[in-house]
Amino acid sequence: MTDQSQKQNTRWQAVKMAAHFIAPYQRQVMYSLLALLFTAAITLSIGQGIRLLIDQGFATQSKDLLSQYVFIFLLLVIALAAGTFTRYYWVTWLGERVIADIRSKVFNHLIHLHPGFFEENRSLEIQSRLTADMTLLQTVIGSSVSFALRNFIMMTGGIIWLFITNAKLTALVMICVPLVVVPILIYGRRVRQLSRQSQDKVAAVGAYVGEVLGQIKTVQAYNHQSIDQRKFHDQVEEAFAVAQQRTQQRALLVTIVIVLVLGAVGLMLWVGGIDVIEGRISGGELAAFVFYSVIVGSAVASISEVIGELQRAAGAAERTMELLHAPNLIQSPKQPTPFPSVKGNIQIEQLCFAYASRPDAPAIDHLTLNVRAGETLALVGPSGAGKSTLFDLLLRFFDLQSGSIKLEGIDIRQLDLFALRRCFALVSQNPALFYGTINDNLRYARPEASDAEVEAAARAAFAHEFISALPKGYQTNLGDLGLGLSGGQKQRLAIARGLLADAPILLLDEATSALDAQSEFWVQQALKELMVNRTTLVIAHRLATVQSAQRIAVLDHGQLTALGTHAELLISSPLYAQLAALQFQSLAID
Ligand SMILES: Nc1ncnc2c1ncn2[C@@H]1O[C@H](COP(=O)(O)OP(=O)(O)OP(=O)(O)O)[C@@H](O)[C@H]1O
Ligand SMILES: [Mg+2]
Repeated sequence: MTDQSQKQNTRWQAVKMAAHFIAPYQRQVMYSLLALLFTAAITLSIGQGIRLLIDQGFATQSKDLLSQYVFIFLLLVIALAAGTFTRYYWVTWLGERVIADIRSKVFNHLIHLHPGFFEENRSLEIQSRLTADMTLLQTVIGSSVSFALRNFIMMTGGIIWLFITNAKLTALVMICVPLVVVPILIYGRRVRQLSRQSQDKVAAVGAYVGEVLGQIKTVQAYNHQSIDQRKFHDQVEEAFAVAQQRTQQRALLVTIVIVLVLGAVGLMLWVGGIDVIEGRISGGELAAFVFYSVIVGSAVASISEVIGELQRAAGAAERTMELLHAPNLIQSPKQPTPFPSVKGNIQIEQLCFAYASRPDAPAIDHLTLNVRAGETLALVGPSGAGKSTLFDLLLRFFDLQSGSIKLEGIDIRQLDLFALRRCFALVSQNPALFYGTINDNLRYARPEASDAEVEAAARAAFAHEFISALPKGYQTNLGDLGLGLSGGQKQRLAIARGLLADAPILLLDEATSALDAQSEFWVQQALKELMVNRTTLVIAHRLATVQSAQRIAVLDHGQLTALGTHAELLISSPLYAQLAALQFQSLAID
């Protein structure tokens, strides 16, 4: 496919997308079109009004006629105002409506996509697409298209009228319009480019402020202020330089417009004025002529401007379509195997997995491990051994490359995805809390849980005490990302949330790493009770947690290097013995 035809193809795709999303609103499209035709017709007829006003009203010196024409003129103005209201309202409504639909549709798609997608496509970039591209599409659907259509009607109507009246003047207009419009367009494009650049610079300044202020403690701890000040100053100055350039060009543009447009009008008045003096046309006709040529000129300018905007919108539409059509690599099977009753038997056989970004470095390497229902199994190993990755695979955030994971004897890829994930309560390595109240965060997995259940979970996770001490208790609002809580408090909330989920299998990924030894002990005690009827996989660095597990699996470089009880492993696994020795040492230092 050539570059050109590919471009046309995308543009065509963009049109198809717009049409698809506009289709449900045919009634509103009709209102818009009718209002559009109506207002264009009235604007065109105002030229006739001017002619009548001058020729009949002024020329005949009749006050009655003058009043009559002024009255007609006022009626036209009112009709135009009403028509413009309708047009503006419905066209903008359509733009907003369609964009709201596209936004929801894109979000609904994204939220189900496999997590790997967001590693390849940075989520920040997706966010910007969702806002910047949508705004662009909104202007195009919600104004540009109607603008172009209206101007097209006006241009055609204006030219027809010009030709009917006076061929000589029309020829003059036809020469003048491009002479006036082309330089204005070229200049206008340059100004627009600069203003886009200027916007980007301002956005960069904003991003910089956000980053620095968000990490203010790190900035001040390393006395980085003066460097940041300098960097920021440079960015601000850069933004100013672009803005200055833009202002200059813009001022020039206005000057050019005034000179060219009024010059052309003057030329027309001169040529037409001679015709009026020599009696070939009336004064009213000349006035109407000037009116129509200005309309035709501005219509041509607007249309070519809109074409540029449509090209940009095609890019935005293409990116949006990409998001909308990004294939979901992790999906429920078409015909899922009926869900077994889950006790927690997990069989992992010859499991191999490498992240897409590092295909040659397997994160899990031929791992075979059986988890028995009801047991507590600890996973230990050095940082980067693949422990968290194993949890991700159990939840099917990624699909394995070879081997299998079976839940109650059924390959997890044959199970319904939602039902599968309902079997697990994950307390992840970084406690992810959401904007909202503590209550909302605790009920995250089970919004219908009763207050008593919420409190019981909070008590078990040793969170009830500090929650009650907060001024608003369970109704306390957490800032973004759970700011305003200590690391240990966040962890305890995350544990409580996991407990409340009441799933048969509990996955704890260093869930207690930020707790002090005493809280950890109590959380351990509470967890012990809760683990009785549950299968629990716990990733931990601390010996206290590990020792309470029935079996311990030692992972290294994605491989299972040893499996057994604490006492067995101390003898059989040098790696475990080493990890344990380091723990004892650090305990001694504590
Ligand atoms: N999203 C990712 N993309 C690419 N590589 C990854 C990704 N996440 C983890 N890895 C790599 O996979 C390996 C296993 O990581 P994993 O997070 O499972 O380790 P871990 O055992 O949980 O370590 P830690 O104890 O530090 O949490 C590491 O080498 C890591 O760099
Ligand atoms: Mg980890």
